Amino acid sequence: MHELVDRLRQPDARITVLTGAGVSAASGVPTFRGADGLWRNFRPEALATAEAFRRDPGVVWEWYAWRRSRIAACEPNDAHRVLAGWSHRLPNFKLITQNVDGLHERAGSEKTIRLHGSIWEVSCWQGCTTSPRRWRDDTVTFKEMPPHCPYCGGLIRPGVVWFGETLESSVISQASDAAICDVFLTVGTSAVVYPAAGLIEEARRHGAFTVEINPEATPATPSVDLALKGGAETVLPEIDRQLKSPMR
Ligand code: OAD
Repeated sequence: MHELVDRLRQPDARITVLTGAGVSAASGVPTFRGADGLWRNFRPEALATAEAFRRDPGVVWEWYAWRRSRIAACEPNDAHRVLAGWSHRLPNFKLITQNVDGLHERAGSEKTIRLHGSIWEVSCWQGCTTSPRRWRDDTVTFKEMPPHCPYCGGLIRPGVVWFGETLESSVISQASDAAICDVFLTVGTSAVVYPAAGLIEEARRHGAFTVEINPEATPATPSVDLALKGGAETVLPEIDRQLKSPMR
């Protein structure tokens, strides 16, 4: 941990953090692959694909509305708060997240690179030309299910990336740029979903010191320079405490 803190202290250090569902676990947002993970009880292909939406938009929207209500009842935790603090304090800091819950933003993080979109955005399913490409919608209880596009009357879809869909090229290039860094921390992700999981390797190729924070081992664990075993909500505040304490 001392080596990490020393590296984070370097005035020009380029620091990038990649987060996954585990960072929101302490807030009460379910992860996907853990013991109580969402994919233990739900089939991704039945709920998080364009085919599923085409087949039954009502069922897919019920699931997203349920997740919206779960997330709306949650608050950011200390992990989100530390990262929000770094986004303001550290000059060359970048945050990439796979999370769609918006808790980083609610904690005050700025310019987060959101790989998988946001559950708080929607877009027109038909792609009507009068609507914006995507827009913010904080509704928790929709008046009609499935909800309709206010511009064309067709269906709207959640503003998230589904399985089988490609990430926006601008988002991929922002994330790749962020992987060119001095310290790369991967926090609360099972490191199995690409392209996010590939960013750790990309950072290493660029010479970054790589760190994982996770209570469990992942496929990334054997190859990182430092694996810190524990919850993000305790490990990140400890790193932050050492970072703020006078130099040894
Ligand atoms: P996962 O659910 O796959 O992994 C969550 C990780 O968080 C696991 O490795 C846990 O060990 C770890 N974890 C649990 N509690 C933690 C805590 N308190 N602190 C730190 N880590 C903790 O979630 P992701 O890796 O984010 O994609 O999943 C990646 C993508 O797969 C998601 O964005 C989603 C999903 O299918 C889409 O929906 C496109």
